[in-house]
Amino acid sequence: MPVDAIHSVDHEKPLIIGGDGKLGGHLSQTIQSQGNAVNATTRRQKPGDPGEGGLYYFDLKDRETWVGLPKAAVAYICAGVTSVERCEESPTETATINVEQTIKFAEFLSCQGCRAVLISTNRVFDGSEAHVAAASETCPTTAYGRQKAAVERAVLALPGGTVLRVSKVLFPNDNLISRWLSDLENGEEIQAVSDMYQSPVSADLAVKTMLALGTHRKGGLFQLSAKSDMSYLDIARHLATSLGLDGAQVRTQVRAMSRSELPGLAATGLQPDQLSPRHTTLDCSALEEEFGIASPTVIETLRSAATGVLPD
Ligand SMILES: NC(=O)c1ccc[n+]([C@@H]2O[C@H](COP(=O)([O-])OP(=O)(O)OC[C@H]3O[C@@H](n4cnc5c(N)ncnc54)[C@H](OP(=O)(O)O)[C@@H]3O)[C@@H](O)[C@H]2O)c1
Repeated sequence: MPVDAIHSVDHEKPLIIGGDGKLGGHLSQTIQSQGNAVNATTRRQKPGDPGEGGLYYFDLKDRETWVGLPKAAVAYICAGVTSVERCEESPTETATINVEQTIKFAEFLSCQGCRAVLISTNRVFDGSEAHVAAASETCPTTAYGRQKAAVERAVLALPGGTVLRVSKVLFPNDNLISRWLSDLENGEEIQAVSDMYQSPVSADLAVKTMLALGTHRKGGLFQLSAKSDMSYLDIARHLATSLGLDGAQVRTQVRAMSRSELPGLAATGLQPDQLSPRHTTLDCSALEEEFGIASPTVIETLRSAATGVLPD
């Protein structure tokens, strides 16, 4: 099938690749809540009804599903195998999707004059250093990180190619935080890992940043994380204190545990620092300079994930 077979439907609408995913879904909802239309891909709708409701059946593995996509000026690539554990366990199979096919697809888009905005990760670094500069040499320690580093390079080589490295994205009603809040309110004990860290940003901030990059025709490499790392234990303690628990209650209800107590690590063959690096923060100065988008504190991010529960 020739690449020019791509449908010319609506050049104005952005295209979201992976519209069922957490980030792609949040991006799609945000654009629509602003009164704008969007086209998005799914693997959950069977082929045969292309474009209904702006949804297009698409599989990175199947080039035949690429050619019916609507034309767009910008495509946000949010699709792929996103589990660090799964990439480690099946490196060849996941590299086919996350690297080979994603690069071919980004090149396919580029041939249509469509810029790709690829969502990448802090895991292209080894996590030994805080606030890593975007220009630092990548040094991934996992298959997932190596795959992302490879696809980043290819996307950045394309005209207008854009990469956004993000640390952890916290979505509204995050499962873990919701469960912790509910258990704490019910007077129950929660367990939180003291030697695992994150520098999360809210889904709203991630999406705002993606949309800003979507308008940035020049492309380039950008990074987004919270200002600092916080351990899961400190996050849990902060949530407990915010709910009004006193010091004694926090000590009783929030139990510290070690990441070595978590199940599943052995199956991946990874060392604890590979699965959960000590540092996850990135140097985000380019976003602030170009778009006025500043890194949040972890506390600001937590508030956004538990709206109405945590005090402003
Ligand atoms: N969420 C975060 O905290 C975070 C942080 C840093 C970077 N990122 C990056 O941001 C992107 C989006 O992450 P996410 O959290 O939204 O991931 P997610 O919820 O796992 O979504 C991944 C999406 O990719 C789709 N997909 C998987 N294999 C596919 C294939 N062969 N062809 C087409 N679509 C396929 C999935 O469809 P199905 O549902 O049908 O499988 C799903 O829609 C990823 O690249 C991830 O690495 C995320």
